[in-house]
Amino acid sequence: MKFRFLDIEFKNPVILASGPWWFGEEYEGKINFEKLGAITFKSLTKEERVGNPTPYILVEDYVVYNSVGLKNPGINKFISDIYEKFKNLDTVLIVSIAGHSEDEFIENFEKLSKLEKVSLLELNLSCPNVSGGLFCFNKQSIKYILENVKAISKKPIIVKFSPEGEILPYIETSLNYGADIINLANSPIGLKIDIENKKPFFYRIFCGYSGKAVKPLILKKVYETYKAFKCPIIGLGGIFSYQDALEYIFSGALFVSVGSAIYYDYKIPERIVADLQNYLKENGLKNHLELVGIASKDSF
Ligand SMILES: Cc1cc2nc3c(=O)[nH]c(=O)nc-3n(C[C@H](O)[C@H](O)[C@H](O)COP(=O)(O)O)c2cc1C
Repeated sequence: MKFRFLDIEFKNPVILASGPWWFGEEYEGKINFEKLGAITFKSLTKEERVGNPTPYILVEDYVVYNSVGLKNPGINKFISDIYEKFKNLDTVLIVSIAGHSEDEFIENFEKLSKLEKVSLLELNLSCPNVSGGLFCFNKQSIKYILENVKAISKKPIIVKFSPEGEILPYIETSLNYGADIINLANSPIGLKIDIENKKPFFYRIFCGYSGKAVKPLILKKVYETYKAFKCPIIGLGGIFSYQDALEYIFSGALFVSVGSAIYYDYKIPERIVADLQNYLKENGLKNHLELVGIASKDSF
């Protein structure tokens, strides 16, 4: 199943998404990270952030609501503690970068790009749970951040988008300014009402939502983006099985990423790898590459 892309060898196309597994605290000895194609750490800011007032997460049958607000230990603590723990793992490491301003993204990028075992850097330009988090809808911000980070390091850059609204023009800007991979997508923004207390469930009122409910919405964005640009895409949203992963791959995703599914069963990412492997074997394929975008050809 392995393949090379951007001079990096991936064991398989399955990536653990930024956020739901935090920095592994609760999943040590549960998720076998080395079985996965890559793992993405939770988004990092320059300083530690305590996040929004709790609750952070609510898990229902088809939806996971979240209002975490970029809670993270800050870049220095990540480098001194967390990176040290993960750096010798035999899988590809991706760091996710957040910031309050364009310049903070660049500063954070500068520090994190120096970490030898970090192969790719993801710019989280689409955080739904902090004010001003949606840099992905501002072409000037995209251009400024990308021009600057591209000048700092040659490591490949992923730009993570919101799945809402007319995103194609912003994706085009990202690609024009050097984004190597487009991540589709972050959580769309929704609302949960606490009917007992007759008020919004989360402190910030609106919240991100993910899980099974978001798959059709994000799959459509992957399909449209692949059709428009034929660019490398990470498909992310509601992937719980290898069949979900195949829908994304057939629509144009080069990678598939798993987020909230681990709240239902933390073995899901590894199971998807094993099931994809079987699917490819049964179909006489050595990896998934020739399947990418196969359903978005003009074949009807
Ligand atoms: C609790 C939680 C925390 C998240 N934190 C981040 C984050 O720090 N950075 C980020 O880019 N995405 C974050 N996400 C979004 C996920 O990476 C993913 O884009 C989204 O959940 C959709 O995928 P899913 O349906 O597989 O969960 C978070 C999601 C959840 C549920």
